Amino acid sequence: MSGLFVPNRRLFLSTIGLGAAAFTVRGAFAEELVRTPRQTEGPFYPNKLPLDTDNDLIIINDSLTPAVGEITHLSGKILDVKGEPVRNALVEIWQCDNNGAYLHSGTTNRDKRDVNFQGFGRFLTGSTGEYYFRTIKPVPYPGRTPHIHFKIKKGGKELLTTQCYVKGHPGNDRDGIYRSIKDAKERAAITVDFAKVKDSRIGELAAKFDVILGITPESK
Ligand SMILES: [Fe+2]
Repeated sequence: MSGLFVPNRRLFLSTIGLGAAAFTVRGAFAEELVRTPRQTEGPFYPNKLPLDTDNDLIIINDSLTPAVGEITHLSGKILDVKGEPVRNALVEIWQCDNNGAYLHSGTTNRDKRDVNFQGFGRFLTGSTGEYYFRTIKPVPYPGRTPHIHFKIKKGGKELLTTQCYVKGHPGNDRDGIYRSIKDAKERAAITVDFAKVKDSRIGELAAKFDVILGITPESK
């Protein structure tokens, strides 16, 4: 039996070793983080912004009726390539509702649009670079695997437009926009887990998506 433990122990030790190495290279010789790859903006950035553009896409203003879908707590940090937080970054997200309709006059599935889904939201980061949205888990629509669009702005300048995807979704491998990213690390950087929140009685999910901008601390 002891033979079984040896490889495991070796694996464990080498994992620890990697962890320690990661700590020691922080600082002057730190490797740059993988930049979040650009993705197309697509045709459905809202052509008319909703009356409510806050970070809760489930409830529009003071409505009593929430949007339909799997409620997801979507959060992460906006960082530069050195891992430093970017403050005063305006994070915008937009996505289709649970029926595949965008907040756009040219959307598909327009007749089925969930009028209670905000479809678009904004969050301005503070000193920690963190953002937070309450939204729904994205669903597929004709021609696309599920995704959430992101646009990061700072001081009125657009810094990055991208999309994030659901880890393990079978549609990812058939999606031309997703597959346009050839680098495995870049793909991993925009593919996130939508994990069940422990003890949530209504089956809420949590997803974490850090965005690494290709800017230096000086240009912040
Ligand atoms: Fe889209």
